[in-house]
Amino acid sequence: MSPDRGAAKGFETRAIHAGQPPDPVTGAVVPPVSFATTFAQDAVGVHKGFEYARSGNPTRSALEECLADLEGAEKGLAFASGLAAEDAVFRLLRPGDHVVFPADAYGGTFRLIDKVWGPVGIDHTPADLSGPGWEAVLDGAWRSTTRLVWIETPSNPLLSIVDIAAVAAAAHARGALVVVDNTFATPYLQQPIARGADIVVHSATKYLGGHSDVVGGFLAVRDPEVAERLAFFQNAAGGVPGPMDCYLVLRGLKTLAVRMDRHCANAAAIARWLQGQEAVSEVRYPGLEGHPGHATAALQMSGFGGMVSFVLRAGEAAALAVARSTELFTLAESLGAVESLIEHPHRMTHASVAGSSLEVHPGLLRLSVGIESLDDLIDDLDRALQHS
Ligand SMILES: Cc1ncc(COP(=O)(O)O)c(C=O)c1O
Repeated sequence: MSPDRGAAKGFETRAIHAGQPPDPVTGAVVPPVSFATTFAQDAVGVHKGFEYARSGNPTRSALEECLADLEGAEKGLAFASGLAAEDAVFRLLRPGDHVVFPADAYGGTFRLIDKVWGPVGIDHTPADLSGPGWEAVLDGAWRSTTRLVWIETPSNPLLSIVDIAAVAAAAHARGALVVVDNTFATPYLQQPIARGADIVVHSATKYLGGHSDVVGGFLAVRDPEVAERLAFFQNAAGGVPGPMDCYLVLRGLKTLAVRMDRHCANAAAIARWLQGQEAVSEVRYPGLEGHPGHATAALQMSGFGGMVSFVLRAGEAAALAVARSTELFTLAESLGAVESLIEHPHRMTHASVAGSSLEVHPGLLRLSVGIESLDDLIDDLDRALQHS
């Protein structure tokens, strides 16, 4: 955000204005989508801040500035996908280095560390840091080579909660960096850097974009030196987003706060309603008082998010029947957009963790609760549960 606009403005104001003053040439109130791949130089090395579009582009810069501001970060870096952003983080490591990794994480993140970085010599230990005995779990997982603690909170798909500030303090005391995947919460509900995280990871494909029409990733980084190394990887490995993708995420950010408020309200009501259904044996939503991470979530989040997972008492066949019976809840992967989605993690988003310690219950369904009319969403689930 430009200094004259003031860094202390509220979240909603910064989401609309940070990094995107009216265009100095035309006065356009929306940042132009800059498609140019190269930028004229007045003399060799003398230019207006841009040389070649992989290294930097004005639309991407606007997004990077805005989202870094929202996350309270020193620097923001946009990537072609959430996994491209995560891949850049793992490039900070050297063969022999070790990562403490969530026992419950997005399956693609697990596949990346296990199948891509594992063979290169990056080791990992899955550790459930969401329970009351997390200190002992961290102790047990720790090695002299541990360089990174990866946190996903709320986690995908079980919505487990990790105390970011406590784990960050413990990891820093032993000299490791802390990465938080903030995809489910967004900076509107949770600010990991303020709680001690070093790097925040996003799949911008989800709530940040918010309309199921763009794939993107993002890193928000606290320390300038770490940021410089990650910026080097962004350019040198080249997993960058195109200008139109940056524009779509930037546009999504403008309504993030109002969308998240509605996502939270709808999800909380649906979680409570599901609790009263005979066919459902367990509901996972951090806003429910009975959720094991509720107190921590209430401390570190300003709302409990739009994701709800639940287990069908009758198991996998019932879960599959419900998943194919909803009409408003579209059966599809992904999450975080205005429309409601339902999916079966065991066979869909988390199929890549089958057979590993991260394998999920086959009776589990995950809802990405959209911002449609609540009554319509509950009617839809009510009809579908009758097929379970
Ligand atoms: C929590 C989380 N992190 C990271 C990713 C990966 O993001 P992308 O699909 O944009 O590569 C996802 C994708 O579903 C996710 O749910």
